[in-house]
Amino acid sequence: QHAALTIDPAFRIAEVDPRLFGSFVEHMGRCVYTGIFEPGHATADDEGFRGDVAELVRELAPPILRYPGGNFVSGYNWEDGIGPRESRPRTLDLAWRSYETNQVGVDEFTKWARRMGSEPMMAVNLGTRGIDAARNLVEYANHPGGSYWSDLRRRNGTSEPHGIALWCLGNEMDGPWQLGHKTAAEYARLAAETARAMRRVDPSIELVACGSSHQRMPTFGDWEATVLRETYDLVDYVSLHGYYEQRGDDRGSFLASGVNMDRFIESVIATCDHVRGAGQHRKRVNLAFDEWNVWYLGKFAGEENLDWSERPRLIEDQYSVVDAVVVGSLLISLLRHADRVKIACLAQLVNVIAPIRSEPDGPAWRQTTFHPYALTSRHGRGSVLRVEPTGPTYETSWMGEVPVVDATAVHDEETGTVTVFAVNRDQHEPVALDIDLRSLPNLTTGEHTALFDDDPDATNTAAQPDRVTPTRLADVKATEGTITAVLPALSWNMLRFD
Ligand code: AHR
Repeated sequence: QHAALTIDPAFRIAEVDPRLFGSFVEHMGRCVYTGIFEPGHATADDEGFRGDVAELVRELAPPILRYPGGNFVSGYNWEDGIGPRESRPRTLDLAWRSYETNQVGVDEFTKWARRMGSEPMMAVNLGTRGIDAARNLVEYANHPGGSYWSDLRRRNGTSEPHGIALWCLGNEMDGPWQLGHKTAAEYARLAAETARAMRRVDPSIELVACGSSHQRMPTFGDWEATVLRETYDLVDYVSLHGYYEQRGDDRGSFLASGVNMDRFIESVIATCDHVRGAGQHRKRVNLAFDEWNVWYLGKFAGEENLDWSERPRLIEDQYSVVDAVVVGSLLISLLRHADRVKIACLAQLVNVIAPIRSEPDGPAWRQTTFHPYALTSRHGRGSVLRVEPTGPTYETSWMGEVPVVDATAVHDEETGTVTVFAVNRDQHEPVALDIDLRSLPNLTTGEHTALFDDDPDATNTAAQPDRVTPTRLADVKATEGTITAVLPALSWNMLRFD
């Protein structure tokens, strides 16, 4: 089988916003407690954060980290998480039926995120709370001093403002499961007025309005249009959330998840631009895909009525080689839309549907999905190029006819490096990918790294943390301006030319 694509720096889609490679820390399950934070762990630092997990987070280097939820934020009182730790209340987290000890709050999280090299992306509670709590949190976090909340921050040990630049106006407010769920019109009004108040405290902040919780929501499309008609000039981004899983034994459809993500993104762009046109607005609202991943949601059914407990084991999905290939292909879809998707967050960072796993009092390790995410984040910087792959297709019950090979390319103008990211969705056969590099004659040799395995269901575990890792294949060389790389069956690939 043969596929082909052309690299030409003239066909530039857009510069990649590094925030495309963000992640998400929610007070859910063991993401925070015994995930990033575990005082008493052998590797814990003075603040109680795990050193072994921090090392893996630094390796991933997510430029932004969304916090503190998720469904959690819709019942969260941020004031419970500030001040002396011993006087913080133990509260009920109604989203995940957990006891919340509030030992990590906005101050600790923001400082930890910065130590990781990440910027916080803070969500405010528009479920049980609203304008007042949101504007107070912006004052606490971003106002220099001389007011009640900013002086309280200073007394709590943070003299300089946190300077949090990016804020989410609630979370999944269209979902009936959400505490304080709202109709589109109710949410639109609240989001608009909250945005105004938050901006009066700090005019420099950027704001994300809630889009639909997923594209199968009955209100998808109408929700975005209603919200944007009310908030268009007040917000910078609208959010998208998308989780993917294999249903039954239909692996072919699962491997086509990126095709579904492409269509989802393109639908939301269409709605944003419709509101822009109809409202005669100048600016463009861009997209924040601030929750995405593979999540075996089917397995989660029934976990809703758990007994109350602290840091329960929730949705600790163990990812396989196939899942990693799908994560790699979702990253290709995000990159391809770099002109409009400026922010994306792999949900979540540790333990809860996460690239990093950790055990209490035990080790931390990289899941299979860690690898395509880390490598795409590290090398997917520069300008995304339109590469127009051609090649074989196959039929799926979910997405119809889809290409066997999906690919994109990023050109780093400073170093001259071109990186091609490609997946081969054929489960049994390799595909030879011809890469036309005639417009860049200096690029003659490429490094080929691929993630694949004889056992597509193989996973990494505490006992075998490196069972699945990327393989460096033989370098590929150009003949008359074309390079042919053989993509193994069911694989994610990265080809770097410099
Ligand atoms: O990431 C897990 C959950 O998925 C989040 O809390 C929620 O926003 C989404 O439904």
